Amino acid sequence: MSQSNTTHVIPLPEKITPMAGSFVLNKSTKWVVQNEETDSIITFFSDKIKQSTGFELETAKEEPSNNFVSLNINTALPGGKEAYALSVTKDFVYISGGSAQGLFYGLQTLLQLLPAEIESSSLVKKSMWTIPAVEIKDKPRFKWRGMHLDVCRHFVPVENIKKHLDMMAMFKMNTFHWHLTEDQAWRIEIKKYPRLTEVGATRIEGEGHTYSGYYSQEDVKEIVAYAAERFITVVPEIELPGHALAALAAYPEYSCTGGPFEVRNVWGVEPDVYCAGNDDTFQFLEDVIDEVVALFPSPYFHIGGDECPKERWEKCRKCQRRMRQEGLKDEHELQSYFIKRIEKVLIAHNKKMIGWDEILEGGLAESAAVMSWRGEEGGIEAASQGHDVVMTPGNWCYLDHYQGDYRIEPVAIGGYTTLEEAYNYEPVPAELEADKVHHVLGTQGNVWTEYMYTPALVEYRVYPRLIALAEVNWTSKAQKDYQSFVKRLDNNLVRLDLHTINYHIPLPEGPVDKVVYLDKARLEFTNTRNYPMVYTTDGSEPTTTSDVYKNVLTFTEDKTIKIATLLPHGKMSKARTIEINKTNKHRAVSAETTKEGLAEQYIDKTFVYAANIDKVTDWKERDGLVENRGSKYRKTDYKQPSSHIFTGYLTIEEDGVYEFQTNLDQFYIAGQLLIDNDGEVKRFSRHNTTIALAKGKHPVKLVYLNNVIGGWPQAWNGPKVEYRKLGDEKFIRVTNEMYSF
Ligand code: ACM
Ligand code: ZN
Repeated sequence: MSQSNTTHVIPLPEKITPMAGSFVLNKSTKWVVQNEETDSIITFFSDKIKQSTGFELETAKEEPSNNFVSLNINTALPGGKEAYALSVTKDFVYISGGSAQGLFYGLQTLLQLLPAEIESSSLVKKSMWTIPAVEIKDKPRFKWRGMHLDVCRHFVPVENIKKHLDMMAMFKMNTFHWHLTEDQAWRIEIKKYPRLTEVGATRIEGEGHTYSGYYSQEDVKEIVAYAAERFITVVPEIELPGHALAALAAYPEYSCTGGPFEVRNVWGVEPDVYCAGNDDTFQFLEDVIDEVVALFPSPYFHIGGDECPKERWEKCRKCQRRMRQEGLKDEHELQSYFIKRIEKVLIAHNKKMIGWDEILEGGLAESAAVMSWRGEEGGIEAASQGHDVVMTPGNWCYLDHYQGDYRIEPVAIGGYTTLEEAYNYEPVPAELEADKVHHVLGTQGNVWTEYMYTPALVEYRVYPRLIALAEVNWTSKAQKDYQSFVKRLDNNLVRLDLHTINYHIPLPEGPVDKVVYLDKARLEFTNTRNYPMVYTTDGSEPTTTSDVYKNVLTFTEDKTIKIATLLPHGKMSKARTIEINKTNKHRAVSAETTKEGLAEQYIDKTFVYAANIDKVTDWKERDGLVENRGSKYRKTDYKQPSSHIFTGYLTIEEDGVYEFQTNLDQFYIAGQLLIDNDGEVKRFSRHNTTIALAKGKHPVKLVYLNNVIGGWPQAWNGPKVEYRKLGDEKFIRVTNEMYSF
């Protein structure tokens, strides 16, 4: 589908004036250049244009009378190095940039003015490659227009990182923050310390398989060069003093206790951190920094600094001695000592240090820039003290959040940030004094990959929200307009398709997958962006010409509904399948029960799959207490595997159709397996299901395997069952008082 229009440019330019007529790009179009600095840019865009159009554009020695694209660097251009001006007339295109980078952005805009197929990586047969006549003057609002990517929780191969860099370039982003080390992996080759990747790049997952991956220094150079061609700076992050268990698994001598350690296979924050009392630890980090600095031309170096528990330091003789010697009053000041010592190393390398907002703890290093993530406070405080800040507060900038109903979307870490919320982020906090505003460098999307098990899931979470943040960073506050943005975005999705980006398409939300009804089923669907939805009721896959959902659907017979969201360019979301079944109320049973809670069978062994517990013959028994919050629950520890089967009765207060949700492996009620989460990541309920129940007692069986699947330890939440009556908003947690046996 061809869609090109001056109104579709993202991010929205400062000034865009459509003119009459258009320029036609063809095989005779010539580049005209004034500066040698533009050679690499011409090569870049010539290659790109050739892929889709087949045209091999040549460079003219002298300006022809027409049919040319003239490129000029003009350091006096208002708006600085990243600014550009673009004129398209029927005879020629003139682009001037404040630097080669500005020119690059002017050419990116030109690509956006061409038909979307210009982004194809293979030849497209098209009669006309037309660019509408237009005058554009443009410059960015912020300097730091970034994306952060955690490649530790899940590895992102070089080819997939390049796809993100292509997207960033398309939307004029300039900073790739590469989170390379963690508790769960060390992913960058360091020649002096080979065990960092020999040991630190592999973990044994809770399910038993190994998970590995790292970047050789050659890979790193390839990424840095690929980014540089697109005017993207790659900022490395080497985490310290916390989030360092993978390094300590390889070199336990740099910890407080001496280890031994294994690379962490559950998410969260690890208590074992670098020892702040051991000078060898600092020598090790200095050596690592030496090698990393050599690979990254970035002026900034990210040292992490977040979430460093102090419990090991409190008990470590060396750390305590350091505190006495340096006159540090607590472990927060020891953290500050650690960061300041590293700051000196970076200054010696002529690098600027940047870290997460915890580096404010115990006093901020003099030259440090701060990345504000725990809200805006850290950024406000640091900027008020005169430090540069990058604003990345979770509510807007954490692209690991859900962007739709948790019952339907792939499992995520939590949170809820829609495209609109991301778009509406304002990086300059209202509280910041006017004379400190210039310290706000910009914002970035943070991509933590705990629950992004594949590169495709990374794309699903990142896009299109990252594109909203690209506009937040580029376009002036006064010009921002969400409705205009989504219209332009719909056009740009065609370009994302040509890059095979697996962007999020809102799913039809509302009913769960299995709906029961007594007299009449009533299904109401919405989606987060109010796109049309198409559906079938005969079991066939919906197509673009299926019935369009308009109003609540009602049924009085059993059906299979398949429903999908339809984008303006004809692409559809994954179809959801909803089974509706007429049912009777399950009658309550008359059972004599004497105790609160449930009877429990348990053993000190765990399994990935519930079927394997059938083989267990040596169950132990006790009175079980199931409710997961409060003092009554017998808490399990994920490091001490266990399996549990709870049985008894659940008392229902009134007749009704109920929706249940649970993180259990399996939940049986009224003699049926109602919810089966077997083998899945149970961070959140995966398979909410409805059932009609009469008032009274119903037999239940809860299968709870204290296992780790997909990095999520069941023990962190404990067994949890919730329900709501049809029509109610809120789920009720089943407490021990509601169970009996
Ligand atoms: C962070 O999200 N821990 C910086
Ligand atoms: Zn120590």
